[in-house]
Amino acid sequence: MNKVLPPSLTCIFIFLLSLGTGYSADNHDNEGVVGEGHEHTPLEDEMSAIGKAWRQVKRGARKPENNADTAKIVETILVHVEKSMEYVPMMTEDVLEADRDAFVEAYLREMGVFMASLKELHAAFKADDNAKANALIAQLDEHRKMSHGEFRPPEDH
Ligand code: HEM
Repeated sequence: MNKVLPPSLTCIFIFLLSLGTGYSADNHDNEGVVGEGHEHTPLEDEMSAIGKAWRQVKRGARKPENNADTAKIVETILVHVEKSMEYVPMMTEDVLEADRDAFVEAYLREMGVFMASLKELHAAFKADDNAKANALIAQLDEHRKMSHGEFRPPEDH
């Protein structure tokens, strides 16, 4: 009776075990969970939702027949950006007190620019202008890199 489980059974076993522990690799609504070294901030939860929707938008941009649906995903991102503006980056507390207001103002300004570009992207999908949508996606990706460089802790990059 010293048999090794076949791979399929091993998978089922691991799955059942994961149900038992409540573990999820993507557990974002549990504020108390210590995931990657610290508790998840509400801003990280918003960003994580933006990240997932952003991947869908990039895939959608390659399928002009799906433009109406892709425009809806951009609308979802806009809602998460609005929510993101209710929070401040976790790096804020590491900034010298004298510079803190300016740091938060810069963050909100960048979010405003981000939002304006997203609205342009939304309009491009509505107008079935996929060339423009792709150009805006490249621009938004550059903006993401720049903003993360400025406002996201370096160890998270
Ligand atoms: C397409 C654009 C963007 C995408 C796809 C994106 C995605 C992400 C993702 C996946 C994370 C990590 C979340 C986690 O650890 O669970 C993150 C973190 C973060 N992002 Fe973005 N992001 C974008 C734009 C921006 C912009 C424009 C800003 C600022 C103006 C920004 C500020 C931040 C900050 C501050 C964090 C760290 C969270 C915290 O401090 O609590 N992101 N982002």
